[in-house]
Amino acid sequence: MAPAVRHFLQFKDLSRDELGHLFTRTRIIKDRFKRYQPYHPLADRSLAMIFEKNSTRTRLSFEAGMHQLGGSAIYLNTRDTQLGRGEPVEDAAEVISRMVDAVMIRTFEQDIIERFAAHSRVPVINGLTNEYHPCQILADIYTYIERRGPIQGKTVAWIGDSNNMCNTWLQAAEVLDFNVHISTPPGYEVEPERAGLFGTDHYEDFADPMDACRGADLVTTDVWTSMGFESENAQRMTAFADWQVDDDMMRVAALGALFMHCLPAHRGEEVAAEVIDGPQSVVWDEAENRLHTQKALLEYLLLGRIEE
Ligand code: CP
Ligand code: NVA
Repeated sequence: MAPAVRHFLQFKDLSRDELGHLFTRTRIIKDRFKRYQPYHPLADRSLAMIFEKNSTRTRLSFEAGMHQLGGSAIYLNTRDTQLGRGEPVEDAAEVISRMVDAVMIRTFEQDIIERFAAHSRVPVINGLTNEYHPCQILADIYTYIERRGPIQGKTVAWIGDSNNMCNTWLQAAEVLDFNVHISTPPGYEVEPERAGLFGTDHYEDFADPMDACRGADLVTTDVWTSMGFESENAQRMTAFADWQVDDDMMRVAALGALFMHCLPAHRGEEVAAEVIDGPQSVVWDEAENRLHTQKALLEYLLLGRIEE
C-alpha cells in the first residue's frame, strides 16, 4: 500500500522530531542559497497556489522557493477560477491534485482546506486560514532559534487578537514545549477548541498586557482586524486601543527579548513605530525566513527526509 500523503494543515501535523529536521534542513538550504549554490531537488515538480485572500509574502516565498528548488509554481485565485463560481472544493481537489505535485491554499474556514486535503492525492499546505497560519510560525520559530537558540522552556508573549497567529503559537507551544503568555481585550479571548489544543498547560491568560510581557523572551502581535473580519474594524479599533506593543512593554520583557510581527503591520495600532523599527525587532529576518523554512517544508513533504 502506498504511504499516506502528508499534509501541513495545522502546526501539530508535524512532530517535534520532524520540526527539528526541518530547522536543520532550513539552515543548510538557507546557507547554500546565500552562497549562490544551486540546489534543484524539485526539478520538474510543480506547486499550485490557491489564494482566496490577499498576500505578498506567502505568494512570493512559495513561488520564489519552488523556482529556487528547480520546480515551478502556478498561481490560482478565486476571482478567475471555477472555485469562485461554486465548483465543489472536493471536485477541485480531485482535479488539481492530478496535475501538480503539491498544493498551497490560503482560504477562509479551516474546514475548506481539510475537505480539499481529504480529496487530494498530493500534499496540501496551509498558507493561512481564519484559524491557523502554520507556515508563518515555522518561520518565526526558526528565526528565534537562529538568534537565540532552542525555544524549549522559553516564554512568548502574545498581545492582541486571539486570531490564526495566536492559535498557531499555542499549538507550537504544545509541540515544542514552551510557554505562551496571552493578553487579549475582553471578548476576544482564546477559544481552546478552535485553537486545536490538547490542554491548557502551555499558556496563561493575563488581563494586563504589561503582565503578559514581563520576563518574556519574545514579544509578538498581529493586526487587530484579520482578513475576512473587516466589518468588525471600527469596533475592534476601540476594543484593542490599550493593546499596542510599545516601549514600556518591551522594557519589562527579558533582557535581549525579541519582537516579531508576521506583517503586514499597522504602526500606531498594534505596534508602536519605535518597537517595530527598533533594535529588538527581527521582522525582516522573520519575513525572509518564510522562504527558507518553506523550502525545507516542500523538500520534506515531496521527497521525505533528506540527510546530507
Ligand atoms: N505574513 C504573511 O502571511 O504575509 P502575506 O499576507 O503578505 O502573505
Ligand atoms: N492575522 C492576519 C495575518 C496576515 C498575514 C490575517 O489573517 O489577516
